[in-house]
Amino acid sequence: MLADAAGIAEAAAVLASGGLVAFPTETVYGLGADATNAAAVAKLYAAKGRPSFNPLIAHVADVPAAKRAGHFNALAMALATKFWPGPLTLVMPATELVCDLARAGLDTVGLRVPAHPAAQKMLSTFGKPVAAPSANRSGHVSPTAAEHVLADLAGKIDFVLDGGATPLGLESTIIDCSSDVPRLLRAGGVPREEIEKALGQKIEIAENGDTHAPASPGRLASHYATRAKLRLNAREVMAGEALLAFGEPLPRDAERAVLTLNLSHRADLVEAAANLFAYMRAMDEAGVSTIAVAPIPQTGLGEAINDRLMRAAAPRG
Ligand code: TXA
Ligand code: MG
Repeated sequence: MLADAAGIAEAAAVLASGGLVAFPTETVYGLGADATNAAAVAKLYAAKGRPSFNPLIAHVADVPAAKRAGHFNALAMALATKFWPGPLTLVMPATELVCDLARAGLDTVGLRVPAHPAAQKMLSTFGKPVAAPSANRSGHVSPTAAEHVLADLAGKIDFVLDGGATPLGLESTIIDCSSDVPRLLRAGGVPREEIEKALGQKIEIAENGDTHAPASPGRLASHYATRAKLRLNAREVMAGEALLAFGEPLPRDAERAVLTLNLSHRADLVEAAANLFAYMRAMDEAGVSTIAVAPIPQTGLGEAINDRLMRAAAPRG
């Protein structure tokens, strides 16, 4: 249903009755449930096929609503003031509001105020936090259009609020603010450099997989899998491969590629981020077996793009 006044009202009503609503944010589509309702959240994990140890981001309309769900320190407040609404998730000590199941039993909560107007209206109408992972089956790439949501989850969810293609196309940056030392849990829509500039300090990158309870389990290796194999930093294309290019010139022997998609002809990392998941999906739909991925600079949004590509290329368990 379109994200007009009637669509928003219906989405809020479905959430209030414990149902599942897919909705657009400026990053990717989320699959939302009432974060205070454990039964609704349980349905959400089932629809995702997600391991239940993975905590969900609670989405709220504004800072006052966030304060009912989490305890802000000075660091969290500074980041919220500067980057909300927007593609930044802040992890902090939780109040009781968001149910244990949505937090996967952690005593922290990940909070985000999305900037997308449809998400904003839905959240302020609903009035409670909405737990929402990306609206894809666990292990698949994140959906950047309502059709992607339906391709993965039709029949498993109650309602889709269609707001068109998501502008950013890459999930939120996650910063752990549960202590006074900020840590980057996931690179995403806000480049790390911007956060460091706002805080006037460097941000530590949390180690992935060095503990039994990873701080951000969504960073587990093959989380963003494609069916096709990925070969990263490809400087040439081999026989039978598809090519995921970035800018010009193309890698050597590019004319061999069975299919070529360029993330951004003008080598713009913002444009590349917006295209990334849709292009990975398109390559899978075309049935290619291996994708050669051209080198992508590790600056700005490039850090998050390379992180997703590395995960998609990781061996599957
Ligand atoms: O842009 C986004 O963040 C999208 C949109 C829908 O908001 N959501 C999203 O959700 O990407 P999901 O579930 O696919 O990824 C959320 C990540 C997971 O890696 C999870 O482990 C981490 O957030 N997370 C959530 N709460 C956490 C917490 N309390 N501590 C550490 N990590 C947390
Ligand atoms: Mg996800």
